[in-house]
Amino acid sequence: MQERTETIFETQFEEDVYTGLTDYPKHLSSKYFYDEKGDKLFQDIMNMPEYYLTNAEFDIFTTHTDEITQLFAKDSRHFNLIELGAGDGKKTKILLQNLINNNIPFKYLPIDISQHVLDQLSDSLKKEIPKVSVKTQQGTYFEALKNIASLTDDKKVILFLGSNIGNLLHSQAIEFLTKVQELMSKGDLFFVGFDQKKNPQSILNAYNDPKGITAAFNKNVLARINTELGGNFDLDKFLHWEVYDPESGTAKSYLVSKEQQSVVVEKLDLKIDFAYWETIHTEISQKYDDRTVAWLAEKSGLQIDTQFTDSKNQYKNYAFKKAY
Ligand code: AVI
Repeated sequence: MQERTETIFETQFEEDVYTGLTDYPKHLSSKYFYDEKGDKLFQDIMNMPEYYLTNAEFDIFTTHTDEITQLFAKDSRHFNLIELGAGDGKKTKILLQNLINNNIPFKYLPIDISQHVLDQLSDSLKKEIPKVSVKTQQGTYFEALKNIASLTDDKKVILFLGSNIGNLLHSQAIEFLTKVQELMSKGDLFFVGFDQKKNPQSILNAYNDPKGITAAFNKNVLARINTELGGNFDLDKFLHWEVYDPESGTAKSYLVSKEQQSVVVEKLDLKIDFAYWETIHTEISQKYDDRTVAWLAEKSGLQIDTQFTDSKNQYKNYAFKKAY
């Protein structure tokens, strides 16, 4: 069954699962953690005491609200506040309220792949900050950003929060930052959250909680293969395993097979064999320091304008501008 003469896949998910599970070592992308159940698990993760990232960025937004507001409104031009991957907008709302309180002219343009997320966000904004002018953009980041850039010359302030950049390898992060940079004009800002290197134990605790929420999140990719592709993974036969390399700053998540076993994925006509303790690499969560961020910026044609840190020095938001 493992040999496949014809490789016609109906979806990217099918193709990536096939490629990842027939490769050695095996791998699956963390972007497939997120379905309705995965979104809920990630919400639970963000509320865990061990997952310091969310509170740290919230701390920056609450402590430095006025400075961030002044930075965005510096040249008193009307601007578009564009958020890549809007989520529930919890941190952004602090800023939106402050911009409104200071009568600063701007429009909020959250971009998300999920229309459901955008609908929820605009409903909550209508109730909580009704004066904000919101126009949601459903689609991929670059399509939507390109669209906005082609429609108006207004100044852009682009937000990419939550250390989402950390789920990319450095080469992918440079590609991503470069693409955004190419859509920016002089005077625009790109405001990005980067989780920082810290006590390695704090990082391991954040990605290996005692209640097993992170383990369930990691295993959700197998659950999705079961429900969407007719797989028969027994989730209990895999171990969630987290490692952190304090030198490179890379945290990696794995699923480790607790026994020798075979799994079938019907829709892919695939039987996968696992040796004892064989791994599936599922996620990277990169941690940064100033040198690495400066290097990423330089490679991407960006320049650091300003940076903000939380009170415990765990996390930073950097504002970048175009280098040339
Ligand atoms: C979305 N992303 C930034 C999270 C992170 O920290 O890498 C996803 C996550 N994975 C395990 N816990 C949280």
